[in-house]
Amino acid sequence: MPGVTGPSEYSQEPPRHRSLKINAKEPFNAEPPRSALVASYITPVDMFYKRNHGPIPIVDDIEKYCVSINGLVEHPKELSMADIRKLPKYTVTATLQCAGNRRTAMSKTRTVKGVGWDVAALGNATWGGAKLSDVLELVGIPKHTEITSSGGKHVEFISVDMCKEEKGGPYKASIPLSQATNPAADVLLAYEMNGEILNRDHGYPLRGIVPGVIGARSVKWLDSVSVVVEQCQGFFMQLDYKMFPPSVNWDNIIWSTRRACMDFPVQCAICSLEDVSVVKDRKVTISGYAVSGGGRGIERVDISVDGGKTWMEAFRYQKSGVPYVAEDVDSDKWAWVLFKAEVEIPPNAEIVAKAVDSASNVQPENVEGIWNLRGILNTSWHRVQIQSSPQVAHSNL
Ligand code: MTE
Repeated sequence: MPGVTGPSEYSQEPPRHRSLKINAKEPFNAEPPRSALVASYITPVDMFYKRNHGPIPIVDDIEKYCVSINGLVEHPKELSMADIRKLPKYTVTATLQCAGNRRTAMSKTRTVKGVGWDVAALGNATWGGAKLSDVLELVGIPKHTEITSSGGKHVEFISVDMCKEEKGGPYKASIPLSQATNPAADVLLAYEMNGEILNRDHGYPLRGIVPGVIGARSVKWLDSVSVVVEQCQGFFMQLDYKMFPPSVNWDNIIWSTRRACMDFPVQCAICSLEDVSVVKDRKVTISGYAVSGGGRGIERVDISVDGGKTWMEAFRYQKSGVPYVAEDVDSDKWAWVLFKAEVEIPPNAEIVAKAVDSASNVQPENVEGIWNLRGILNTSWHRVQIQSSPQVAHSNL
């Protein structure tokens, strides 16, 4: 890619916020503390999780940078940032979630392979950029195209970073052409995050944003966008980010038997408490996030203080203080909702949260049924244990 290089080592990484929890140093993978995650509806850029598979590329000359729009298109083009910025600009508030979010907890049932993540491998940002459907129109592909006359059915995003999984080649992924050419799917070639120019960690100068889909498909540092016949054959589409049944292990796995994960399932987590928390008061305010893929809203968040025997409903919101209604015209369809509940806890309570999305999908109760060897999509009920401090225990005698 002219103007951008993918370094082979880690001596030129960008500065990062001190309070991020580093899960792997090289490549850099980090998440914010739970409590910081739900301090605001929009996640500040420096508190947004960072998920990388190689060193962060360097743009040495933005004037020379261009993204190639090619493959099975009538008029392939090299677009500079000025060309991309000439297209209508859209802003989309969308939650990006790594498929590995909550992986560490899945390992408690049986060890899984992969970078460990607590519950904060996600964030909610307002992304600004051009719609992919407009970009593809520029090269001769009309809106709402499922297949081109030459058989093009997928759109492949190729980056410039070098990943060991791709044997030193670039990170890549694809989405169906029907999604890429559908303006309502809000797929962006984004150059802004929360109103600021995208920073290096998050894909400067240009990245894909595929709302409602696991983060792995939102390719950073774009080099090219190609219309192709087959789904991307890269490592991260074919040999990773697939969900296997609990019976599959590293001796009997056949990667080709499963599809590449796209939309993420309904998820929620409590962020105001750690896995084991000591509280002094019997009244506790619980807060967290809930989100579902595919643009499905959050219908309900249920809270239990007795391990799931009895439940109450939490208050949900996106804009502070305004109750959230799934599928309301004013709600951000691709974004998380935050929830809050004031509860009175028994001594040594187990607090549980589970969400229901607008298609009535509910989170599974336990890890056991969804355990998979790569530890992806842990959406089991989120549980935290409360150890009552002596005062609380005493007041209940
Ligand atoms: N794009 C490139 N080029 N290289 C990567 O390593 N990681 C993917 C995706 N896009 C990745 C990438 C994964 S797995 C996730 S979850 C998101 O980027 C993370 O985006 P973020 O670091 O901006 O939060």
